[in-house]
Amino acid sequence: MIYGKRIRLRADERSDLPKFVEWLNDPQVRRFLLMSMPLSQAAEQQWFENMLKRPTEEQPLGIEIQDGDGWRLVGNCGFFEIDSRSRSAEVGIFIGDKSCWNQGYGTEVMQLLLQLGFGTLNLNRIFLRVDAENLGGIHAYQKAGFVKEALLRQSAFREGKYSDELIMSVLRSEWTPGK
Ligand SMILES: CC(C)(COP(=O)(O)OP(=O)(O)OC[C@H]1O[C@@H](n2cnc3c(N)ncnc32)[C@H](O)[C@@H]1OP(=O)(O)O)[C@@H](O)C(=O)NCCC(=O)NCCS
Repeated sequence: MIYGKRIRLRADERSDLPKFVEWLNDPQVRRFLLMSMPLSQAAEQQWFENMLKRPTEEQPLGIEIQDGDGWRLVGNCGFFEIDSRSRSAEVGIFIGDKSCWNQGYGTEVMQLLLQLGFGTLNLNRIFLRVDAENLGGIHAYQKAGFVKEALLRQSAFREGKYSDELIMSVLRSEWTPGK
């Protein structure tokens, strides 16, 4: 477990998959995730089995928040494709439980991923790709320390039109441990 102030990150379990499918079929949750077709339990299970074959550092992490005396799953996050030579990796996140949006959890998840990436995995650059209209996401990433690095013009097709995307990143030298 990786503990933050109000959240913890833990390995995904097979038993989480029905919840992920429910969330990832919600139009509001998937709006900026570029998922075009409905997602089945079988496809999600196959994704999970493939994930288990990846290096442990690239395996997804369930996001849990404190709920009374226990913990409740609200989303998923993790690193993809860690480049071992350049020590660079992409991060991704979704909070599927919409009642948890805009309460600082996304910011906290990103802060924990930066701590894990720089402090434990010895990365030098952590970046993400975000739709330029995903203002809540961009704001959360900026609060965690990400800066806008590049604009990818009309790089995604969504809701009947081309959308711009941003690359945002944090370098090890810009990161303050404990932030
Ligand atoms: C993007 C996501 C991870 C953000 O998580 P979150 O927990 O809502 O983020 P936070 O609460 O930490 O920060 C969001 C900030 O943006 C602000 N915000 C929300 N909507 C906004 C808007 N339309 N314009 C400007 N700011 C906005 C919030 O007020 C909050 O700022 P504040 O803390 O200063 O008030 C979450 O909404 C999510 O998972 N969405 C669905 C999937 C997704 O888009 N994933 C990201 C793909 S890159």
